[in-house]
Amino acid sequence: MNAEAKTTSLQVEAAVAETRCPDLGIPARECLTGNHLQPCAIVILGASGDLTARKLIPALFDLFRKGGLPDAFSIVGGGRTPMTDDEFRNKMHEALFDGGSIPEDRWPAFAQALHYRPLRFDGEALPSFQDLAGFLKVLDGKRGTRGNRIFYLAIPPTLYESSAQSLGLAGLAGEEQESGGWSRIVVEKPFGRNLQTAVQLNRSLHEHFQEHQIFRIDHYLAKETVQNILMFRFANAIFEPIWNRRYIDHVAILAAETLGVEHRAGYYEEAGVLRDMFQNHMMQLLSLTAIEPPSVFEADRVRDEKTKVFRSLRPFPVENLDRHLVLGQYEAGEIAGKRVVAYRDEPGVHPDSLTPTYASLRVFIDNWRWQGVPFFLTSGKRLARKVTEIAIQFKEVPHSLFRHMLGEPITANRLTLGVYPEERISLTFQAKNPGAVVRLRPVTMDFLYSQNYSGPVLDAYEKALLDCMRGDQTLFWRQDGVELCWSFLTPILDECETCGNREKMLLPYEAGSWGPKEAGRLMSPEGASWQTGSMA
Ligand code: BG6
Repeated sequence: MNAEAKTTSLQVEAAVAETRCPDLGIPARECLTGNHLQPCAIVILGASGDLTARKLIPALFDLFRKGGLPDAFSIVGGGRTPMTDDEFRNKMHEALFDGGSIPEDRWPAFAQALHYRPLRFDGEALPSFQDLAGFLKVLDGKRGTRGNRIFYLAIPPTLYESSAQSLGLAGLAGEEQESGGWSRIVVEKPFGRNLQTAVQLNRSLHEHFQEHQIFRIDHYLAKETVQNILMFRFANAIFEPIWNRRYIDHVAILAAETLGVEHRAGYYEEAGVLRDMFQNHMMQLLSLTAIEPPSVFEADRVRDEKTKVFRSLRPFPVENLDRHLVLGQYEAGEIAGKRVVAYRDEPGVHPDSLTPTYASLRVFIDNWRWQGVPFFLTSGKRLARKVTEIAIQFKEVPHSLFRHMLGEPITANRLTLGVYPEERISLTFQAKNPGAVVRLRPVTMDFLYSQNYSGPVLDAYEKALLDCMRGDQTLFWRQDGVELCWSFLTPILDECETCGNREKMLLPYEAGSWGPKEAGRLMSPEGASWQTGSMA
């Protein structure tokens, strides 16, 4: 390690030593990383774009402040825009500190680790990737990064295949470099736009990278409360015995957003809600709710079990889709007191667009545990509130001994796993209403996730980057899962996008509402009524 690398690592050590995790009384770094971080270079392809400034650099800087980066690290941005290291640093400085809410004291040490190399993604890409390879080697010597590299593809998905190839041809994908270093590639969704393109993308990635080197991000998996689903289910003995078709009536998974399409019409017009939210986040929430206990909490054992869930999804009867699927598109309306325009009037959206911004699906999992239990998956833009939650609706009591005293049936228990806005778990049950007359009242027992905890918390990008540095793939998609989910969704998408009554299937809903009223019919006769907001 040369002098500069030593100084940097000492500075980091000193700062980290000061930060301790208050609840466990151990250094913050140990809370975050278990102290297993190897030196590495994080290379962001597409560093002049939005994602780098909005998400990646803020996440890396925050990790740095919390002691969640290795002692020796470097961050290399690569992009089409020509920039010097200093220009890149200035741009990132602006992105981080313009809001004025982040303390700047650690910036000088962090900025030393930032570099930039111009990259091409066209027919002339290879020489620029070879230049990058040479530069990374020099950095290894200077900063002690030992040939370990993470390549984060923050580029349009159309460039994924060619970039993976350029990395491979430039010798950056192999693991047998003289230094003995490793190489990992991080890809964000969409992983293709149907089964066929997903298989093709995978084939291209695999030309140079092996599966254990490929990290397919799903930021929902990196959310604390989503990770907590497995702990909740499998670290407690009392829930698993009732987590099945004998006791559960149905499961409703909701990801409602108030945001519209924002500035992403180009992408969204092609994707629509099914590709944007269902092929990834909704399927992950479903699988975590439904999986069998893995034998051990390890990436491949967890992903094996998820794969079994995806494999058990009952294929949709495409001949009568409307019995299982409701699609919608938002019209003008009001969100938080402000008028908002219809989807078709958003900038960049075709005035006759038939892209769905809302979908509600009823799916079944054909296995012993879940046979006959409907899972309702609902997601939409411009809905009444931003809410992400999983509601486990239990069955009614088999026999009510209070039937002659109570006018109405007893409301069944419900367990809600809240992901947003409150990270919480709540259980509703019946209790006696105080007083002489026998009456029941539903009450709720709440656990707030951050209760009694004040240690470091990671946002989704921080967690994903950290796990990638640790080489832990538990929270990342494995290719078989991606393909199984596409196998399930592709026939639905094909049918929706090619059928004659496409226009009729797309139901309008007012922005600020809970979506098309017709979605209620999917739920009946099961009776869950999240449309009225009771679940939300
Ligand atoms: C992204 C989708 O993956 O998830 C967006 O592309 C969506 O359209 C977002 O808004 C929702 O994420 P979150 O974390 O805000 O629920």
